[in-house]
Amino acid sequence: MPAIVVVGAQWGDEGKGRVVDWLAREVQLVARFNGGDNAGHTVVAQGHTLKLHLVPSGILHPDLVCLIGAGVVVNPERLVVEMDELAALGVDVGPSRLKISAAAHVILSTHRALDGAREVARGRGAIGTTKRGIGPAYADKAARVSLRAGDMANPEQFAERVAETVRGHNRSLQELYGAETLSPEQVAAEYCAYARRLEPHLADGSALVGEMLAAGETVLCEGAQGLLLDLDHGTYPYVTSSSTVAGGALTGLGFGPRYVSRVIGVTKAYTTRVGAGPFPTELLDEVGDRIREVGGEYGTTTGRPRRCGWLDLVILRYAARINGLDELALTKLDVLSGLERLKVALAYERDTARPESGRRERTEVFPAEFGLESLARWKPVYEELPGWAEDISEVRSRDDLPPAAREYVGRIEEWVGVPITLIGVGPEREQAIV
Ligand code: GDP
Ligand code: IMO
Ligand code: MG
Repeated sequence: MPAIVVVGAQWGDEGKGRVVDWLAREVQLVARFNGGDNAGHTVVAQGHTLKLHLVPSGILHPDLVCLIGAGVVVNPERLVVEMDELAALGVDVGPSRLKISAAAHVILSTHRALDGAREVARGRGAIGTTKRGIGPAYADKAARVSLRAGDMANPEQFAERVAETVRGHNRSLQELYGAETLSPEQVAAEYCAYARRLEPHLADGSALVGEMLAAGETVLCEGAQGLLLDLDHGTYPYVTSSSTVAGGALTGLGFGPRYVSRVIGVTKAYTTRVGAGPFPTELLDEVGDRIREVGGEYGTTTGRPRRCGWLDLVILRYAARINGLDELALTKLDVLSGLERLKVALAYERDTARPESGRRERTEVFPAEFGLESLARWKPVYEELPGWAEDISEVRSRDDLPPAAREYVGRIEEWVGVPITLIGVGPEREQAIV
């Protein structure tokens, strides 16, 4: 049963790239199943620090194939830049190694312009998107008016359709948002060139995945973003526009659940979020600042400072349920070294409808479905755990961790009910306890 699914268990940037890179040594295909170049997946290995936005994080392993799956929205401009950067480092990104599902949808320059214009129009309610055109591209996909990667097989015809779509987008930009328009001819010419370049990479993605699974080969499904950014199960509307959960791997790549052998949720040893929206354990004090500085918590894609807070086990239990997690990968444990006391949220509490009763309502279930106002009323209930002072970045076995770090990891496993099978103690490939 050969499909392994890797998903983010929080708000993204959990370290999925490094976990995929680690697991990729044992697989034949690594396939991205959702999102677009809003993602930024970091792989630090073989002397390189790769910031991957569209190319799957297995690309450094020469013997496997990488697929950008049907569920992804592809910005061809960004993809070409990324391929050139990788090629300059000597990484093979030829058509036999890097494939694009013909059913993946294409992000146009006007999708990006619309993303920006809609954010401005939202004013104080802005989502804080990456402005990569993700929402508008998925909206066009759902409205059945989008261009797909397979359309690039005929570059001239593709260019004509690009121009036509850009004209439509221009009307929205101008009439709805009073924003600047783009030249349809110029965008079409640019996209014609991308089509010529990318055409050899087009593939029947689901057929490729299906053949490999049927042959007993292992397919590693790489998720982007994280559970709480999921369009259905995240903190709507402060979410992204795709399926970021394990189920998204099945729809985004096109195979059935019986092939899934392992579902791995990636979580940091604390919590971060980029962009707006609720964040119950957020730290707006010097502890939050310290985590941001020590952890280098600045966005891989936009460079924005990430909001930081304590680990939230209510969220991790929600991640275990929605994804059916078999395992957790816990990254950035090293960042917590030196903090005297650590807190983890075990539950949430709020006033009951009759606050004068003095009683509080308590839940251990993440209150995702009743919206932001409901979520805002819940406050985390913390448990304090002792910290550790030692540098753990050279530790390679769980038994060699300081007792307090062992306890921290053990309590997470116990409370979430999922074993931790990988612990990150530094960004490098080898800085892991497996
Ligand atoms: P992704 O989007 O989930 O792939 O995560 P990002 O690459 O956006 O952010 C994770 C950041 O943490 C990257 O800069 C990684 O190099 C870094 N990182 C990953 N694991 C560890 C770890 O165990 N310790 C430390 N210190 N950094 C890590
Ligand atoms: P990876 O794969 C963290 C956030 C944005 C914003 C919201 C919607 O690296 O974990 P979008 O541009 O998708 O419409 O923005 O989602 N966001 C991410 N946050 N990591 C990511 O990807 C993200 N991709 C989108 O900051 O709040
Ligand atoms: Mg990231």
